[in-house]
Amino acid sequence: MSLNLSASDYGSLLFHGNCIACHIETKAVSAPSIMQIKEKYLISFPKKEDFVAYMSEWVQNPKEETSIMLEAVKRYELMPYLHYDLQSLKEISTYIYETDFAKEHKGH
Ligand code: HEC
Repeated sequence: MSLNLSASDYGSLLFHGNCIACHIETKAVSAPSIMQIKEKYLISFPKKEDFVAYMSEWVQNPKEETSIMLEAVKRYELMPYLHYDLQSLKEISTYIYETDFAKEHKGH
């Protein structure tokens, strides 16, 4: 049997495997929820290519100087460096951009 995953299934798997432990869809616990991050990012980067480029590069190398969520850095401390590769981070960022987390969450 072969795995027949679409690009967005793949992004979803990667997100759930790597990010959800800290970034729950709709609720901020030890880190901002992914919805909060997405909202903030969409203000600065409304275009998908900019959103994906900035997020994947930032997550690959989290730094206070390049954070666009300084209030979150103060509140939770800077996100740790986690050795993700850029290609996976692009898949994840695309998935985040394309997913309506409020809607997804209701279906759970
Ligand atoms: C060990 C916990 C942890 C994991 C795992 C984690 N994060 Fe974070 N992340 C944080 C914390 C804490 C913050 C808030 C402080 C900050 O912005 O640095 C944050 C902030 C962010 C931000 C905001 C950036 C900014 O401008 O400050 C983005 C985007 C982000 N995370 C994406 C991701 C993605 C995508 C993944 C999965 C690949 C991920 N995170 C995995 C803890 C985590």
